[in-house]
Amino acid sequence: MRSEVKENDMETAYAMDARCEIGAAIMLGLDGLAHPYVLFDVAGRLRYANAAFHQLFGGRMGQADIFALLREHLGIDDFSNSYSDGDIEALCIGVMQHEDGSTSIYRVLGSQMECDGETLFQCVIAQIRPLVALQIGIRDFGVGDWRRLAKFVGQIAVEVDPEETGEHLVRTSRHMRLMCLAMKEDMLDCFSEEEIESAATYSILHDVGKMHIPSRVLHKMETLNEFEWNIIKGHVAAGLAVAESLSLPNVAADIIAFHHCRWDGLPDRWDAQRQRRDDVRGGYPFSAKGADIPLFARAFAYADIFDALTSPRSYKSGWAPEEAVAFMRDKLCGAHLDPAIYPSFLKSLEGVERCNGGR
Ligand SMILES: [Fe+2]
Ligand SMILES: [Fe+2]
Repeated sequence: MRSEVKENDMETAYAMDARCEIGAAIMLGLDGLAHPYVLFDVAGRLRYANAAFHQLFGGRMGQADIFALLREHLGIDDFSNSYSDGDIEALCIGVMQHEDGSTSIYRVLGSQMECDGETLFQCVIAQIRPLVALQIGIRDFGVGDWRRLAKFVGQIAVEVDPEETGEHLVRTSRHMRLMCLAMKEDMLDCFSEEEIESAATYSILHDVGKMHIPSRVLHKMETLNEFEWNIIKGHVAAGLAVAESLSLPNVAADIIAFHHCRWDGLPDRWDAQRQRRDDVRGGYPFSAKGADIPLFARAFAYADIFDALTSPRSYKSGWAPEEAVAFMRDKLCGAHLDPAIYPSFLKSLEGVERCNGGR
């Protein structure tokens, strides 16, 4: 993994950036450095912290335990478990919850140094934008640690858009795992364990492109105009660009690309006369239909639509689960949704209700 990382341009820029931060700390004088800077020993005891560090963690802190601070304020569980790259010993992403309910994302860059025969660590903490954090997180956590990835993506998405993207991504990803397991039972091993893990992990990213959409459009209470509707539809292309930039596997790109396609291939249409989207919701952005839509995307559409119907949105309240199931069975099966996997959807719902605490 490390050699792959070294060949990656983003990684090189990232490590260079980290060296510059630490170099700047030394050259500019630590108290004058805008970014929080801290020096601590192997046991995590604070030796020095600049003014910005004290400000970030709320005042002067005497004999603070740095590991406890990182855990408590940024949710970084194990600083020592980070990977190293040249001079940079640790690269972590942390999310800070503020008292007003907002959050900020920080990248913690650390390096080891010898000082009078003693080993010390220095860290610079830099605030970063959610999409950058997301890219780093996906690359670092990846498949195989889906819970960590889910938690991380959820935290990032929650900052950008708490209810309509953040929680939705995490819930649909959980449901996707249950849906795939039910299909595996019903369709005699159509997926391997590894494929299910991968599909559930990457389905977290299906609406990641929504993070590019301005809140005034995403949360608009009134009917969207044609321009705004095109912006919403653009979340698929934006999500695909994220998948491509990270070289994510096909299953990720398939779920992102096809999650709004319909089984019957009916395309999305703008009703010019009424200046609104057609009442029968068409699929987008492709006119794929039936088995041309990858099976994982057809499965995911069940989880996505169920969650969209049962969750409150700025323009509607959430439906009762039974109401959503009846609507999906009567109106969407065979039209929007692949009817062959409806029984697996029903089976998956028992688990969904357990996961969501009976929401
Ligand atoms: Fe979507
Ligand atoms: Fe979605």
